[in-house]
Amino acid sequence: MNAISLQNLTKTYANGTQALKGIDLEVTAGDFCALLGANGAGKTTIIGILTGLVNKTSGNVKIFDHDIDIHHDMAKQIIGVVPQEMNFNIFERVEDIVVNQAGYFGIDRKTAFAETQKNLKELRLWDRRHEIARTLSGGMKRRLMIARALVNKPKLLILDEPTAGVDVELRHSMWKFLGDLNKQGVTVLLTTHYLEEVEQLCRQAAIIKDGQIIANDRVKNLVKLVAKETYIVHVDVICSLEKIRGYNPVVIDENTFEVDLSKEERLNEFIAYLSRLGMVVNDFRPKGNRIEKLFLNILDSTIETRVGA
Ligand SMILES: Nc1ncnc2c1ncn2[C@@H]1O[C@H](COP(=O)(O)OP(=O)(O)OP(=O)(O)O)[C@@H](O)[C@H]1O
Ligand SMILES: [Mg+2]
Repeated sequence: MNAISLQNLTKTYANGTQALKGIDLEVTAGDFCALLGANGAGKTTIIGILTGLVNKTSGNVKIFDHDIDIHHDMAKQIIGVVPQEMNFNIFERVEDIVVNQAGYFGIDRKTAFAETQKNLKELRLWDRRHEIARTLSGGMKRRLMIARALVNKPKLLILDEPTAGVDVELRHSMWKFLGDLNKQGVTVLLTTHYLEEVEQLCRQAAIIKDGQIIANDRVKNLVKLVAKETYIVHVDVICSLEKIRGYNPVVIDENTFEVDLSKEERLNEFIAYLSRLGMVVNDFRPKGNRIEKLFLNILDSTIETRVGA
């Protein structure tokens, strides 16, 4: 069964901006899916439509079995959403922000308190529950929005850049929290600009460009597409590059060149080979992370396709 099913979804805003130009996307129940794309690609617009904050222009949207045009309220009941922008009342108490949200779902206060306690504890906010939200740090406010999104025990959790501006340690603990939720059966859809997050956490990734999906696959398949990784090599003197022609060397300056190595290549052996050729290696490092490279390649190749077309 699909948790999300989008068919030919379009959105043109009142000012004429065509934010979505025919999105088809399916996310299987229980999956963990990332929406990737540059600023303005259309990610938040998709989330807005899924969560009922933005009206679609055309197309079909289903959340589990519920068509949002017909069963709007049913769909809303099973979604939890963490928006990109903070949207709670900063003068309310932390605990109240979560408990009051339960009221929108018709959840009785006793149940809401129990759920709030569990989630605030897990998100390490329980000690701050009596404080007004304004006194929380940025990372705590993000976690508060996650606690609030979970109060109705959603089957589908949607997070719009949950780890933006969050420090490394907290980001890792949020990954663990979201990973555990997913293991308990919650379907997760998130947008992010951190490609490492996608590689660590997500099973599926859809890449959006200018309101269209340009790639959509299991993350493990996407990563496989990056058969080679580029390394930057600093040496004392560049020589005998013709002997490593197979590694596609590109000279950057008199001491620096780049080479493409496949995943199977043993780095130490390659460095030893360079020294046998007469190059003393001072520094040797990957140019970027794999999925980042893939992401840029995919964006580039669509530009080429369009130029070529
Ligand atoms: N309320 C609105 N009225 C008009 N245009 C809008 C509105 N909201 C978004 N847009 C436009 O729609 C396009 C998609 O915006 P959206 O917010 O969905 O992008 P995004 O992928 O979430 O970007 P980011 O990574 O910056 O959050 C952009 O061109 C944006 O300017
Ligand atoms: Mg956005």
